[in-house]
Amino acid sequence: MSNKNPIGLFDSGIGGTSIWKEIHSLLPFENTIYLADSKNAPYGVKSKEEIIELSIKNTEFLLNKNCKLIVVACNTATTNAIKELRNKYTVPFIGIEPAIKPAANKTSTHTIGILATKGTLNSELFHKNVENFSGVKIIEQIGHGLVQLIENGDINSDEMTLLLESYIKPMLEQNIDHLVLGCSHYPYLIPQIKKIIPPYVKIIDSGEAVAKQTEYILNKYNLNNNSTEKSYQHFYTNSDSKVLKGILNNNYSVFEKDF
Ligand code: DGL
Repeated sequence: MSNKNPIGLFDSGIGGTSIWKEIHSLLPFENTIYLADSKNAPYGVKSKEEIIELSIKNTEFLLNKNCKLIVVACNTATTNAIKELRNKYTVPFIGIEPAIKPAANKTSTHTIGILATKGTLNSELFHKNVENFSGVKIIEQIGHGLVQLIENGDINSDEMTLLLESYIKPMLEQNIDHLVLGCSHYPYLIPQIKKIIPPYVKIIDSGEAVAKQTEYILNKYNLNNNSTEKSYQHFYTNSDSKVLKGILNNNYSVFEKDF
């Protein structure tokens, strides 16, 4: 294993690029390979068994490209499958979970909202995490339909605005002062969400924390790429690449491949 080997990331689709952006900005010398399993999105409505099967398929793809570390850039895959992945493979895995802790620690109204997929909110890992914050009221909301709209490139559509309003307004009525985005697709909705929430409601996502954890794990296992060569950033999708290219501002190599 060479330290020049890439960091691998996967998600059910394009959403995990929000995590990739944080990692690339913190660790610009690292090579990365991102896999968007858009053909199978959304994962959030699938069974735990299906999510594990897809996560194994994605991991095999990245290991065949010699990835030295894998970031599961999907809350749904992390909360349902990371234990199985860690048991099956020796490569280090980094997962992403809804950032309840920073919201729960900072809330003044003792009420926070979380928007995530059904698969994440119903997972055992998520329930265990929530148990740690019994003094805080946590309002859970499934973001039905949001991932599909983002995958279709309909981020700024009226349909998106209506869905977001229907999910967020009831939380505001219950006095939340923090809104946790528990899905890696949702940071792309922040401009939309800001039009719905008052300024005192803080939006929390996990991207920066995952990037810091990636840096920590690279250091811990002595896996940092110390080369001064220009790094490469490759993206693979098993669907039409148009929307993915768009959110990357057409700046990177995107390959369409059937996997
Ligand atoms: N980005 C995935 C997540 O973080 C979306 C899951 C889905 O495809 O439903 O949960």
